[in-house]
Amino acid sequence: MVVAIDGPAASGKSSTARWVAERLGFRHVDSGALYRAVTWLALSEAGDPAGWREEAVRALAERVALSPTAAGFEPLVDGAAVGEAIRGTDVTRNVSRVAQLGSVRTWVNERVRAAGGSHDVVVDGRDIGTVVFPEAPLKIFLVADPWERARRRLIQRLGRHPQEDEIAEETEHLVLRDSKDATQTVQARDAVLIDTTFLTQAEQVDRIVALARARSRVL
Ligand code: DC
Repeated sequence: MVVAIDGPAASGKSSTARWVAERLGFRHVDSGALYRAVTWLALSEAGDPAGWREEAVRALAERVALSPTAAGFEPLVDGAAVGEAIRGTDVTRNVSRVAQLGSVRTWVNERVRAAGGSHDVVVDGRDIGTVVFPEAPLKIFLVADPWERARRRLIQRLGRHPQEDEIAEETEHLVLRDSKDATQTVQARDAVLIDTTFLTQAEQVDRIVALARARSRVL
């Protein structure tokens, strides 16, 4: 079974997906991590991002793999785990550029489908319910107010409660990223929309787990 979780940047998709997967005994697939791993490699090997050519980036993608772990899958570059290196500011700033390349999207989608073909999975991304797994029995589209998304992201990054001006600046970055990723971030017609602005993480996980259990009973 596939549970697809899509939504904009910092809507809590990855942490929610990880937690839902753990509760259901499924594996988590973070599709954005593949775009990030390719971007990380391109930053170290393909020179100035403004000059990146699609064929060159697509060729670098061949050195990235999606490998099973105990709880899910992790991207490997040249056979080695990349860990938190793919979460840095430089990668975050340039990843939308890579995510817009059609041939790289096709490559990512193949890797993600292969993972879903061999395990029950919770997959998070932007187009999972529309393009990657259009037949998924449960599709979730997570949204939250940009200010709240910025606040949560900063708490995660700084480990403390952010000041108002810090939240304002982060909100601007998020809104810019939303506009860069807008074409790919699509809500499937049959997705369940969950606005998490006023939900705790535990509440949103409970809702998705309950929906997944109900759907798997009728399958
Ligand atoms: O969710 P994230 O911030 O790790 O995603 C990184 C980038 O990849 C972001 O620009 C959106 C893009 N992405 C995408 O276009 N399609 C996906 N299925 C997953 C991520």
